[in-house]
Amino acid sequence: MKWRVVLFALLAFLLIIQFGMCQKTEPDPKTKAEKKPNGKSKSGKGSGKILASKPKVKTGPETPTEAQTYLTQVVNKGRFQKVGNTLTVQAGDTLELRCKGNPVQWAVPAYLEEDDEGRLRTVQHERYGTLILANTTAADTGEFTCYPMYCEDKDCRKQYDKGVKVFIFFSDPLELFVPSADYYEIIQLRTNWPTVLPCQVTSPLAKVTLHREFPPMEVKVDGREISFDIKKGFTIHRPKQYHAGSLYCVASLGNLRQSSTKYMLIYVNYPAAPPSPAIQASSDTIVVGKNLQVTCTVIGEKGVVIERPMHTDDSVQIVQVDGQNRQRTQTILLVDEVREDDHGTYTCTAQNLQGSRSASTTVKVQSARTTTKPKKP
Ligand SMILES: *[C@@H]1O[C@H](CO)[C@@H](O)[C@H](O)[C@H]1NC(C)=O
Repeated sequence: MKWRVVLFALLAFLLIIQFGMCQKTEPDPKTKAEKKPNGKSKSGKGSGKILASKPKVKTGPETPTEAQTYLTQVVNKGRFQKVGNTLTVQAGDTLELRCKGNPVQWAVPAYLEEDDEGRLRTVQHERYGTLILANTTAADTGEFTCYPMYCEDKDCRKQYDKGVKVFIFFSDPLELFVPSADYYEIIQLRTNWPTVLPCQVTSPLAKVTLHREFPPMEVKVDGREISFDIKKGFTIHRPKQYHAGSLYCVASLGNLRQSSTKYMLIYVNYPAAPPSPAIQASSDTIVVGKNLQVTCTVIGEKGVVIERPMHTDDSVQIVQVDGQNRQRTQTILLVDEVREDDHGTYTCTAQNLQGSRSASTTVKVQSARTTTKPKKP
């Protein structure tokens, strides 16, 4: 028996709704790094032993736990210094890091991974690995990580929990912000999802403020609604409609004051869940030549945009569900004068920014002959 599968009604929804599942954001490695508690510094042992050196070093108070691998910076003439959470290197200088272990693997800022133009080298020695980055620029600013590898024979795995991270600022006296190729960046503000304005400075000493273009004003950064992190930029924790617009950061250091790239923040209401369509055929069994209607209904959040398939009758209504306004979207597939091969499974798929779901129903077609049969005698 040949079953024909008829797909219809792809409803593409654009969202507009309160989005309650904000905890789903993936932990970004940077965030993790920052979570290293500042209070956990071990005074004395190992930490804070900074040797005077040419590239200025600003070490965070904490050092990775003693049992762990640690990073050292090789400064001129074979001097070493232990590296803390952050490090500042003059742009133009060569960066050389050492990490105990054999083998070790390095992770570098995305920009360098894509295109280091041969400036980046890693070398594995018997007891440690080195990373050497030549002709550094402000754009190299970011997180560098060394992972000691765990090997069984020739099969090696990264030991993620033992990774040692350092955020390195490559300070450029002329560039307070990490340069960006774009004049402006478009950023989606999703309901209840933290949004980052990645205006990354090249010096931890820069003072950074947030500004709105129209009307021109400084945006209040209270640390709760909006917070600032020197390694990341500004975070809007629970975006609202009023955060939308054109924003930019201003950094000042000494006599220098510079503006960042502009960020066009566009607010997007996110649905709480994928839509749940319901499907119903006008009849489970239909006789050839009659008309069939298959109705797909989705009750969901407001602001739905539908992509209309052919031969459908569409309607959108606002209905009350549990005292809330919901949008009822209905698409009816019209099959005029059903033929034998119109039998099969009819599926309706509804989609929004949270995903898509389908509903199906099966329709049998009776041939006209079959139905007239009983009348024959
Ligand atoms: C660093 O820059 C100098 C001068 O422009 C150049 O000669 C040298 O090849 C560069 N080094 C690397 C490793 O790219």
